[in-house]
Amino acid sequence: MKLVHSIADLRAELAQHQRTAFVPTMGNLHDGHLALVRQAKPLGDVTVASIFVNRLQFGPNEDFDTYPRTLQADCEKLHSAGCDVVFAPAEKDLYPEPQTFSVQPPAELANILEGHFRPGFFTGVCTVVLKLFNCVQPHAAVFGRKDYQQQMIIRRMVQQLALPIEIHTGDTLRADDGLALSSRNGYLSAIERAEAVHLSRVLQSMVQALRQGPRGVSAIHELEDQAMQALRQRGWQPDYLTVRRQHDLQAPQDGDALVVLGAARLGSTRLIDNLEV
Ligand code: PAF
Repeated sequence: MKLVHSIADLRAELAQHQRTAFVPTMGNLHDGHLALVRQAKPLGDVTVASIFVNRLQFGPNEDFDTYPRTLQADCEKLHSAGCDVVFAPAEKDLYPEPQTFSVQPPAELANILEGHFRPGFFTGVCTVVLKLFNCVQPHAAVFGRKDYQQQMIIRRMVQQLALPIEIHTGDTLRADDGLALSSRNGYLSAIERAEAVHLSRVLQSMVQALRQGPRGVSAIHELEDQAMQALRQRGWQPDYLTVRRQHDLQAPQDGDALVVLGAARLGSTRLIDNLEV
């Protein structure tokens, strides 16, 4: 496995290959990321993972400075998952000058849910993902379903900008108790870690209710309110627990395929999760 930092070295490394499969990450990797790498492998004749903590997608009060940088451990894990090339640019490699051009995703996709609570997040994500795509020039890229809204917005960006890249989605990996694997789980204390599973449990109970009961507007609002209340009573600060239609994350209408999504803070750690119904 090769580790490269500059765009020039990355391009030189990939020049001999026909078809690149790509997994972008911010590092601090867990088994969910490695599953994406394994999923990417058969999609190309070379597999690239990027590790870059992207300042543009962090808000002023978020964890950019404290986000764990664990390059050596990440490289060992990527090697074991069969990754061929790790692209780990320094900030000056990817942003040698202030990044004043940006990709502005449409408000109806990007200013709801995560984008409502993290203004500018999806502009930061789309800008860096497009730039990483330009550096890596992949034929296929794999994103995790845990970031449901992110993978949907990236699919739309690729489609509207006619990028010649197949976007694949990887399933969410979960711990034995059901907690979705996330780099931010490492912030949880032992007590919080035991409690954290309740985000997925509340989403699971919403899925059960939707499968068995009414799906009208008022039933859905009641379900969302009950779910928010259930987490609040356990000491969480939920941002949203909501039922949306899968294809554009708008409020559902009869017959739509549904997804339930949640984001909530446990202590100082913000966790997200989702389940398709
Ligand atoms: O999902 C992530 O880790 C990041 O948002 C991504 C896609 C690597 C862009 O920085």
